[in-house]
Amino acid sequence: MKIQTKITSTYVVIAVLIVASLGIFTSLWMESNLKERLVNELSRQADLVLYILQEDSTQSFTQLDAQVKQVGGLEHLRITLIDDLGNVLADSDVPFPEIAEVKNHLDRPEVQQANRTGIGHDIRRSVTVDRDFLYMAKEVKKSPTHSLFQNLRYIRLSVPYEQVQRQIDQIRSIVIVAGFGVLLAIILVSVFISRRITYPMTQIVRGVERVRAGDLDARLSVDSNDEIGLTAKAINELVEKLKADIIQLKKLEQVRSQFLGNVSHELRTPIFAVQGYLETLLSGAVDDASVNRSFLEKAQTNLERLNSLLEDLINISQIESGEMKMSFRIFRVNEFIESIYKEYETISANRRVALRLLLHTTAEDETFGDRERLRQVLNNLLTNAINYNKLDGEVVLSSEKIANGIQISVKDTGVGIPHEHVSRIFERFYRVDSDRSRALGGTGLGLAIVKHIIEAHSSSVTVESTVGEGSVFRFMLKTS
Ligand SMILES: Nc1ncnc2c1ncn2[C@@H]1O[C@H](COP(=O)(O)OP(=O)(O)O)[C@@H](O)[C@H]1O
Ligand SMILES: [Mg+2]
Repeated sequence: MKIQTKITSTYVVIAVLIVASLGIFTSLWMESNLKERLVNELSRQADLVLYILQEDSTQSFTQLDAQVKQVGGLEHLRITLIDDLGNVLADSDVPFPEIAEVKNHLDRPEVQQANRTGIGHDIRRSVTVDRDFLYMAKEVKKSPTHSLFQNLRYIRLSVPYEQVQRQIDQIRSIVIVAGFGVLLAIILVSVFISRRITYPMTQIVRGVERVRAGDLDARLSVDSNDEIGLTAKAINELVEKLKADIIQLKKLEQVRSQFLGNVSHELRTPIFAVQGYLETLLSGAVDDASVNRSFLEKAQTNLERLNSLLEDLINISQIESGEMKMSFRIFRVNEFIESIYKEYETISANRRVALRLLLHTTAEDETFGDRERLRQVLNNLLTNAINYNKLDGEVVLSSEKIANGIQISVKDTGVGIPHEHVSRIFERFYRVDSDRSRALGGTGLGLAIVKHIIEAHSSSVTVESTVGEGSVFRFMLKTS
């Protein structure tokens, strides 16, 4: 069921209950009020009749009746005088000679009541005229001097009740009409109010529906400060975040598929080369002593390249999937760096690059990290420093104590990296000069691996480079 229907129907049920009970109460109250007024009126008339009886004992009952009716202005007033035994002494509706035949009135409810409390009344249908009458009886305290009424005990006045009944019916119909009017007004107001409450909700539902259909730019335009407004705001924020997440996911997916494309391309190159050399050899070159050996050597170089590519790929995928286990230990910096220096002394010399060691740390200085992974880092950095150097250039491997740690740097006097490439060289397969990189056996993954390993040591690598002058790569290791 719609909220609007719920609110409206609740209002209507409450309104019906209130209006109905109010209507019933009002008409009952009016009715008893009218009746009471009439009874009071009759009581006053009775007093008047008694007064006249007291003052003027000469009048006949008929005269008395006419006078009372005139004074009271009540047309159909009937007067009955009753003695203490219930015998009717006089009745304005009964000719005087027939008065003895009138039945005893002691059992009439109004007379009974007057006997008990001094005054009484009753409404009932008169069998003789088939009409409703209101009867009011009153006890007479002081007997009149009139000889006829010596034993007078009760005076009873009655009027037809139809007039009153008609008035009551009129009031009832007014109450009913007014009730329906009020009810209609309440229904209209409640429809209006419930629509005001549910309109922003409908807006929310529509907005969410649009987002669900794929429109991530859809925003809810509910700007109240109540719960609905806050809900809309929260939904907007949620959609904003969702959009950001989706954009990031798409980017990641793009990077991933790009990487896959790169991988297959990189793998294909050495495989095709090997295939080419082997085919040439098989189709006769194997017997040509001037080329057969160099072809085999070239095939071998390509296989080596393929091997290092696969190794780097395995490394990268292990690091990125979190499979690579790091084993952190405390070790001596100088000892570690010297061993690497020794390894690269001859390699660099062969490439006509001078490798220098600059230790600003002491033999006791220690650091905390994964020795084997850090060796891999320095291997990659030194290989680059040698590969992208100039003839008779220089590479400086150095260590230095800084606040909270030890800084290790690899500086070269090489070609340098153009400014616009610096931020991207740590990406997988990103190279400034692809031909040079490939010719030197580069996989394009070295710096990506370096970045990952150093980040696993809660640190970062920085580069400073000037084209034509050289570059320096630095990273920091913690002392413990
Ligand atoms: N010391 C350096 N001097 C100049 N360029 C460098 C240096 N180190 C890295 N580069 C550039 O960054 C690229 C990426 O390096 P790397 O990830 O090690 O891949 P690779 O060496 O296999 O090409 C290199 O191709 C090269 O263009
Ligand atoms: Mg490299």
